[in-house]
Amino acid sequence: MAFREYKIGARMFGLAFGTSMFITLYMPAVDIASVSATSIAMDRQLSFGRVGGFSYEDPFLLGWGKPITVQITKDPKTGAAIQSTRAFVYEADVPFPNGIRHPRILGTAPAAASDTKGRIGEADEASGAVFVVREVIEGGVTVPYIENVTATRGWTPSATLAKAADSQRLYVGKGKIMFVREGCWWCHTLLPEETQDWQYFGAPPMLGDFNGESPTAFGSDRKAPDLTHVGSRNSSREWMMMHFFNPRLVQPHSIMPRYDYLWGETDASGKAIDYDGWRSAYTAYANGETVYAPDVPVPAKDSEARALIDFVLNLK
Ligand code: HEC
Repeated sequence: MAFREYKIGARMFGLAFGTSMFITLYMPAVDIASVSATSIAMDRQLSFGRVGGFSYEDPFLLGWGKPITVQITKDPKTGAAIQSTRAFVYEADVPFPNGIRHPRILGTAPAAASDTKGRIGEADEASGAVFVVREVIEGGVTVPYIENVTATRGWTPSATLAKAADSQRLYVGKGKIMFVREGCWWCHTLLPEETQDWQYFGAPPMLGDFNGESPTAFGSDRKAPDLTHVGSRNSSREWMMMHFFNPRLVQPHSIMPRYDYLWGETDASGKAIDYDGWRSAYTAYANGETVYAPDVPVPAKDSEARALIDFVLNLK
């Protein structure tokens, strides 16, 4: 009888643990299709790819297997001028995002429209596909859906990339990996609160804005500005370049670490980056010995810095 209390305690613990696991793990899956994905959620998952963090395709978080977001003004098939269109290019073997793999999570109406109008069921990972987000009005309600333009218009990944100059490409998917890997979320949030936050950081997200995104990077406590809409308040690529190379170039008292190592070995013109030389020139500037700070190298196209800047400028 001596252990009676422990037996009761153990059962109570088991019950409490079981109930909380049921609530946390099972209940969210009960009626997932009742929250429809918004067009923002579709844009997010299509630009980030299947996973924006650790995955089997990218175990070292180097940005492998990610789609490329492009803004094109020419039809990849016919070459005719078209209204500027944002498209998500999945080259062969780039894993499709969750909404394409499991359309149910898009919600009933968007999943049905993506299937019938958008023909996403015909998309094939092995040969790649191009997607765009569209809207249709059904019974007075605007329903966003995903269109597989490879099936509907014959826009192949290679033809679509051929129509996108470097300045029309955003390596958003790779950039999110950099954001997660570098721990930007230790200081920054991607979630303005429903408080006075609005006035500076802009509107908080709506229900359904995150369907299919994995993982979200809301951050925990905030030591630095919220970045959800940072691309709307500061769209300067040059500013971002300087700020990531060394935040003290633009914000003299910034506590943000420098991320110059994301530039890699060479700059956009293929010239080796002389980090030691740059830092001693910067020290001379910071000490007031020279008037101008040294120039920041322009990141190479395939550099991690370029992807991170694309990701940040795309936060609108
Ligand atoms: C140690 C905390 C810390 C970390 C880690 C950090 N930042 Fe910052 N960041 C700040 C602070 C503080 C500011 C505001 C001062 C400034 O502009 O430097 C800032 C400013 C910014 C801004 C400008 C915000 C605005 O409102 O204009 C951007 C963009 C930014 N950070 C992006 C990043 C990214 C991307 C990373 C990860 C690669 C990162 N930060 C990592 C602290 C941090």
